[in-house]
Amino acid sequence: MTLTNYHNLFFKTLGSKINKTELEEFFFWIIEHYCKINRMGYILNPNYQINDIQKYNLFESISLLEQNMPIQYIIGETEFMGLKYFLNQNVLIPRPETEELVSWILSDFPKDKSILDIGTGSGCIAVSLAKFSTSCEITGWDIDNEILNIARKNARTNDTNVFFEIQDISSINSKKKFDIIVSNPPYITSKEKLLIEDNILLYEPHRALFVDDKDPLFFYNKIIDFAVNSLNKNGIIFFEINELMMEDVSKLLNNKGFYDIEHKIDFRLKNRMIKACI
Ligand SMILES: C[S@@+](CC[C@H](N)C(=O)[O-])C[C@H]1O[C@@H](n2cnc3c(N)ncnc32)[C@H](O)[C@@H]1O
Repeated sequence: MTLTNYHNLFFKTLGSKINKTELEEFFFWIIEHYCKINRMGYILNPNYQINDIQKYNLFESISLLEQNMPIQYIIGETEFMGLKYFLNQNVLIPRPETEELVSWILSDFPKDKSILDIGTGSGCIAVSLAKFSTSCEITGWDIDNEILNIARKNARTNDTNVFFEIQDISSINSKKKFDIIVSNPPYITSKEKLLIEDNILLYEPHRALFVDDKDPLFFYNKIIDFAVNSLNKNGIIFFEINELMMEDVSKLLNNKGFYDIEHKIDFRLKNRMIKACI
């Protein structure tokens, strides 16, 4: 079988399910991952013969895409801030809006700061900050080692030094002090589940996404309480937020003594980020 044969099969099988532009992207991600052939390589050599192992993986990818599995979990990696991140279904797929949060932190040119990322997941925020800030000491927390092992692998792959530690946001047990705390905590309420697409609902970790309807600000409350005592003088907190929670999170921060509260919209023009000082 040649790559052109596979291309035809790929589009014939998935064409009615996934839009053409996206499908084209996916096709090239898959052949690059399994055959080490990029777009130009394919154009130059469309009759490349696929070997048996490649054929198995390429067919399996079609089947998983048919079952709505996100491409990032199929190939086990993604890109964030131009860096490569390994993924599995224990960790959320990093989102482009979170790149905007990291860019916001980096726009202050942090130097010699201690920075904590709460709910680090793949480590995308922590590792990118370690990579692109100057002499900062970065810590990442999450709820279990299965998650942190992925984050550790990502820190190693990207040649960065991040200290990862298990901490449960509901009962943080740490006396450490930080200059900057950042978090993208779970912020989707069950009520909003109806609006969520199958590829997210079926495959991404619900623990990373959802918060109890009865207490949607649970994680923000806990993190802000911790931050009040653990941020150094002139410390800063950055949050990614549910666009519907901007007012509520701002009020929480204000009530706990934070000032200079700033909001930022993301590229979809949604209220997505908050920064505040203490
Ligand atoms: C929205 S994800 C963010 C992941 C990553 N920081 C990112 O931006 O892609 C929320 C993270 O919070 C973690 N988390 C959920 N409940 C937690 C808890 N009680 N204690 C610590 N981490 C928790 C999840 O495991 C998940 O990695």
